[in-house]
Amino acid sequence: MKAIDPDVIIVRELLGAGDEFVSGSDLAQALGISRVAVWQHMEKLRERGFTFEAIRSRGYRITARPTALHALMIRARLPQKARCRIITLDTVDSTNDEAMRQASKGTEMPLVVIAREQTKGRGRLGRDWLSEPNGNLYLSFVFQPQVAPEKLPTITPWVGVNLCSFLADYAGIAPEVKWPNDVLIDGLKLGGILTEARLDADRIRDLVIGCGLNLTPPEKGWRGELKGKAVALNELTTKPIDINHFAAALVNRLLRACQDFQRGTFTDRLAELWHRYDTLRGREITLLFGRETITGIAHGIDHDGCLLLEMGDGPLKRFRAGEVTLAKR
Ligand code: BTN
Repeated sequence: MKAIDPDVIIVRELLGAGDEFVSGSDLAQALGISRVAVWQHMEKLRERGFTFEAIRSRGYRITARPTALHALMIRARLPQKARCRIITLDTVDSTNDEAMRQASKGTEMPLVVIAREQTKGRGRLGRDWLSEPNGNLYLSFVFQPQVAPEKLPTITPWVGVNLCSFLADYAGIAPEVKWPNDVLIDGLKLGGILTEARLDADRIRDLVIGCGLNLTPPEKGWRGELKGKAVALNELTTKPIDINHFAAALVNRLLRACQDFQRGTFTDRLAELWHRYDTLRGREITLLFGRETITGIAHGIDHDGCLLLEMGDGPLKRFRAGEVTLAKR
């Protein structure tokens, strides 16, 4: 991985200082460059959407920073040891597709692709994912875990519980996960995960985890099949959401989740967190599985990420895939 970009270090220092000034010589020392070179970086940063106050005897402080999606703002908010590439785009067909294209051309990984808008956002089962440029989060994470393909079905539930725990910490809300890939709040869809992979015979080559989170409702309100079924984070909290701050915190969480997946050190934690956030547990559900419709009581997931259903007196049955519907509580 390349050495850290000096601009990232400067922005990190200045953001960390809040309203305080940071002296040019402190920045120069942190970067191992001259004060003139620091000044040159500041001029470059001005061109990238930052505004600074500079006072000769005191140094620099940020007076305005980009509020739209900005890779530098995200990187500067990440802890120094969090190493991953970040690509931010104004518009893209699908961040999952872009992540896969980048992987194919050998871009260094782990890599995060985030877009302000998707023109062909995709959901599970070939559905569209509404991806207006209104401040929602469309993010794909791609990496190459040295993990056997059998482990693949556990990644979506693992990311799902990590999203729930992240949202609970970040926004003080009580999200739930609905097998296999939905994040809900009070039964309304707040987000979803679309996992795609390229496999070799005995290992996962490229693994793309796409996360869509509704942060703002659509400009014309929830309509059509989303009406009464979806919700956005800013409808649930009064705290304004800074997209770069939010994205950085989420990337940091996902980076750790993916490392745990890679090391295989997540199974017990997945069981514990699934139990905490599972919206289906103990409820009667209907599972559409191929052409079959199956009814049973949900009992969480097993170590392989399969849904466990109680159907009559026999042992619990496991299902690897399917579409769940449930009666309203
Ligand atoms: C679902 O609930 O069906 C999954 C939705 C996943 C949407 C995200 S948005 C970022 C990434 N890019 C896509 O095209 N899809 C995923």
